[in-house]
Amino acid sequence: MRAMNASDNYMTVPEENINYIAAMDIGSNKISLSIAQTLDGRFDALLGVVHHQCQGITSGRITNLEAVTATIRKLLCEAVEIIGFSVTEVFIGITDPEIAVHRNTAMVAVGGDSITSEDIADVLEAAETAMPLRENEAILHVIPEQFLVNGHPVDDPVGRSGVRLDVETTVLTVPRSSIVNVDRVCRAAGLTVRDIFFSPLGTLQAVTHPRQRQLGVLLLDIGAGTTDVVMMEGDRLRYCDVVPIGGQSFTESLANGLRCLREEAETIKIKCGMASPAYLNNPDLAVDSSLLCGSAPVTYGQVSHILESRISEILHIALNRLHYAGIGLTAPHSIVITGGTAQLNGLRAFIQELIELPVEVGFANLPAGMFDLARQPVFSSSVGLVMYASTHDQGHSPRMTVQMTEKKNNNVFKKLADFFGGFFD
Ligand SMILES: Nc1ncnc2c1ncn2[C@@H]1O[C@H](COP(=O)(O)OP(=O)(O)OP(=O)(O)O)[C@@H](O)[C@H]1O
Ligand SMILES: [Mg+2]
Repeated sequence: MRAMNASDNYMTVPEENINYIAAMDIGSNKISLSIAQTLDGRFDALLGVVHHQCQGITSGRITNLEAVTATIRKLLCEAVEIIGFSVTEVFIGITDPEIAVHRNTAMVAVGGDSITSEDIADVLEAAETAMPLRENEAILHVIPEQFLVNGHPVDDPVGRSGVRLDVETTVLTVPRSSIVNVDRVCRAAGLTVRDIFFSPLGTLQAVTHPRQRQLGVLLLDIGAGTTDVVMMEGDRLRYCDVVPIGGQSFTESLANGLRCLREEAETIKIKCGMASPAYLNNPDLAVDSSLLCGSAPVTYGQVSHILESRISEILHIALNRLHYAGIGLTAPHSIVITGGTAQLNGLRAFIQELIELPVEVGFANLPAGMFDLARQPVFSSSVGLVMYASTHDQGHSPRMTVQMTEKKNNNVFKKLADFFGGFFD
């Protein structure tokens, strides 16, 4: 990945190697559309992210088709107006509390002298076909974990000679209705769905480093309606889970506990929230009364007491489920927290104290400078998804799914800087 700046001369790269892709992350609070430039089928540069709040999604699931379609239409207009790209096909990122992880194996006989990429495609297709599914269950990913040639494990079987190719896979499934609904809203907005991914896989790629994934890293993407939990170790996916609780529940508990409006509770959470009263210098200090519009006075201690109980609840559920899946967290494992709620003051320290392992807040691995705001945890899944889509595009031939609507020049990047700058004022 190279740094993006106004002096980059994109015209030195042969045009045929460049492609543009768009990815849309469907979150419980916001839908975001990210556009990236790929070079030789790899992520090259982020070109922009537009996003909108949407009321039609509950715990990661589309519950109001019309509201989601309307939001997607708005995003498509903004992609043209702000980023200068017209989008016709998208990769979609979803999370779902009913995500299920299966282990599966498959085998094919090798016809030629050596193993080809077609043999790899065949054995993965065999793994997909052989997967027994429940009613209303659909496959989201078939991830190869280990290939075996003539019974012997190999990292890359292509070019090896052998008569038998086996694969051990991890298969992720979600309810079929989740996929059908994504397809419906995209079609209604005039979009073709290129592929659907489990969003946290992209987030993991964006906010962790290969060494962390090798040693073992637990990702907690704490969003608005879900907490996505993914663990990788030895570069293999060990665990996936979606807890259907996130920052929205913090806001609701504050609104109930402080007897104030939801909007007031949201502002108090962001401006005055602390993960635990133990981190406050003065818990009895009153919260600025102008944030409460006439409700009874409240203290920082009261606010953080409520937040602490909700955070503890999420962590309790997530860690218990991990434990029952037989996964222990020990050194040299580490934890990365990201998503909008990871921005809560004191949350990193709170989790580190509880789990006694290094915890860091995950920022997308983008070049510093122009996209500092897109690197924020609230956009990790948006950026991660477009990075993931760049490298996991199953399309057989590169296609322009995103068309530039204006002449490519440095003004595009200037415009983006203005957009991100103004957006967060
Ligand atoms: N500084 C902050 N402190 C605490 N919470 C924050 C802060 N900034 C944003 N949030 C919370 O982050 C949440 C939004 O996070 P995010 O955008 O990652 O969710 P999402 O991707 O739309 O939803 P999900 O992934 O849960 O389906 C909201 O609940 C918001 O209140
Ligand atoms: Mg999210």
